[in-house]
Amino acid sequence: MQTPKNDLLLRAIKNQPVERTPIWLMRQAGRYMPEYRQLRKKAGSFKKFYKNVELSVEASILPKKLLNVDATIIFSDILTPLEPMGFNFEFKEGEGPVFESPIITPEDIKRLKPLNVEEVNYVGEIIKGVNEKLNREIPTIGFCGAPFTLAAYMIEGRTSRDFKKAKAFMYNYPQDFKILLDKLADALIDYLYFQFESGADVVQIFDSWGGYLSPDDYKEFALPPIKKIISKLKEKTNKPIIHFTKGVAGFLDYMITSGADAYSVDWMIDIKVVKEKVYPKSAVQGNLDPIVLYANKEVIKKKAVEILEKWGSDSGHIFNLGHGLMPDMEFEKVRFLVETVQKESIR
Ligand code: CP3
Repeated sequence: MQTPKNDLLLRAIKNQPVERTPIWLMRQAGRYMPEYRQLRKKAGSFKKFYKNVELSVEASILPKKLLNVDATIIFSDILTPLEPMGFNFEFKEGEGPVFESPIITPEDIKRLKPLNVEEVNYVGEIIKGVNEKLNREIPTIGFCGAPFTLAAYMIEGRTSRDFKKAKAFMYNYPQDFKILLDKLADALIDYLYFQFESGADVVQIFDSWGGYLSPDDYKEFALPPIKKIISKLKEKTNKPIIHFTKGVAGFLDYMITSGADAYSVDWMIDIKVVKEKVYPKSAVQGNLDPIVLYANKEVIKKKAVEILEKWGSDSGHIFNLGHGLMPDMEFEKVRFLVETVQKESIR
């Protein structure tokens, strides 16, 4: 596969010299863009949308066309591989995902089938479509949810404020919970490899809920399946892997043993602290508080520049938010952030 014309992100991950810091934004393919909302209307529902290759390719490339970001993340969801594995869900308006029959007892784990990647073939087609449509202008990022985050959804059955069902299951049935995580890890190895084979330049593992665990529980439960995914992929390909955990401040020392090429961190930790621990062995992605985007442009610029200055002129930094963009954010401010980082980070 031909290298993208703008390969800043790929160079930053490998700590090779860059002219400026690359930037992309988590949830960049989303509802804050009127153009996204139009596509969403056309598709009917979110699920019909991400299974429609043509519309998903359009959604994926909107941020490149409208914001000039330095990478495209494919439009999909972390839950997509769970449906062919026997766990069906719907996205309820205003609520998010709701599972048909969540895991309640250890017996329910037996319902989880291995993933046959042919059943998520549309994800591969979206990656191919993006690479074709963008003419390899910028790198394409594939992704998956981390086993702990997916397991938490499968047990809760929906988004939760405290994940009490999932964590109680983990404490009551630790061995069964580990079996569940391991089954998910095996599926995700195949799923991410399939995305690489389809043309993804990078993949990101989203452990959005790992931060709800104590450091000991993170180390015992959430981390091992991520390590397994990364080490198995590294046996097959040298394409880079980004590992994102939300709420990592309490167990950064554990997270940074996962073997990823880049660690994506939220705003609750100083990027300087992360740099001191991992750089130059690994790159760092982050870490602007997304809520800054509700402030005025002067503040947005100040906060973005602070992060760039903390990192300094070394390569190895990918600018991003500490978590995703939100549906009610102003497009113009998001665009301003991208432009500011691209201007202010010129070496
Ligand atoms: O980053 C991107 O733009 C790529 C696409 C992407 C989506 N979801 C699109 C989406 C990615 C990478 C995700 C990841 C995801 N999905 C995570 C991990 C990252 C994170 O934000 O923590 C999680 C936990 C999910 C599960 C999920 N999907 C939830 C909880 C929801 C509902 C959220 C809400 O605000 O309604 C979704 C739906 C979803 N995923 C939308 C999009 C664009 C909204 C769909 C719509 O109604 O149009």
